[in-house]
Amino acid sequence: MAEPLNHFTDVGDCSREQLEQLLDLAFSISRDIRAFENTRTGRMLVNLFYEASTRTRVSFEAAAKRLGMHVINVSAIGSSVEKGESLEDTFYTIQAMGPDCIVVRHPEEGNAARLAASAEPGVHVINAGDGTAAHPSQALLDALTLKQAIPDFSEIRLVMAGDIRHSRVARSSIKMLRMLGIGEIRLAGPPEFMPGDGTTEGTTVFNNLDDAVKGANAIMMLRIQKERISGLHIPDAEEYHREWGLNQARLNLATSGCVVLHPGPMNRGVEISSDVADSPQSLIRRQVRNGLHTRMALLLTLTRASA
Ligand code: CP
Repeated sequence: MAEPLNHFTDVGDCSREQLEQLLDLAFSISRDIRAFENTRTGRMLVNLFYEASTRTRVSFEAAAKRLGMHVINVSAIGSSVEKGESLEDTFYTIQAMGPDCIVVRHPEEGNAARLAASAEPGVHVINAGDGTAAHPSQALLDALTLKQAIPDFSEIRLVMAGDIRHSRVARSSIKMLRMLGIGEIRLAGPPEFMPGDGTTEGTTVFNNLDDAVKGANAIMMLRIQKERISGLHIPDAEEYHREWGLNQARLNLATSGCVVLHPGPMNRGVEISSDVADSPQSLIRRQVRNGLHTRMALLLTLTRASA
């Protein structure tokens, strides 16, 4: 049995053993979700979101409700944040109401970890995305989706393509998949969308998507994170799609049966064409379903010690 997990603000909060246990539990939930229902009845989860979200916020809510937890949703818009209350004071106010888990999404990096460091015992903080830094529960659901398709991580040759530089999904997924022993990660995107930090370590960088996809058995497309881009030219959608979009002709360059992932939200006709997004090779809807399973696994694991 791995060490208990107290918070989940970064992939680095976990050992490989803890990640594997989370994935095993999420896999069991995916096989028989009813067996796990109402196993945390009466506990409380608060979603504290300072940025827009569909998948992450709703799946944490759905996961908690499946487990029998009460759920309260707080978004910056419509809360006392609009009256000038700081993130810390908002967090302490919510914490005083006795939740078991607080899920935080914030545009600035490091905030979820900072709040976790000051959380009271028994309050578990989960990072639902902080700036361009991390989105660890997305990485977990991506890892589960890949594992269901290609059970041996060492056999996965994954292309991650698009705006890597501004993607917290890319940062967390690269870190997690490397910890889990992935065979190969290839990064592809325009030079201005390649990160200048250590994100590319242990990967191969391609400046041409056709070359990157040859021989790949998994491709993850990423959208241009317009809301995080300042001082950079945002490419014209049609031009970008021609050069960096995944269409069926490009997908045909990969191995037959190559699977396609996208964390969402998608911009159809920009980084991915509709025929690929809706093709039998697309696992995009399965990723969403796995978001429910992995977030149930996460909530069960975090609240285990205090159950
Ligand atoms: N993948 C993801 O984080 O989607 P949302 O922004 O809709 O939560």
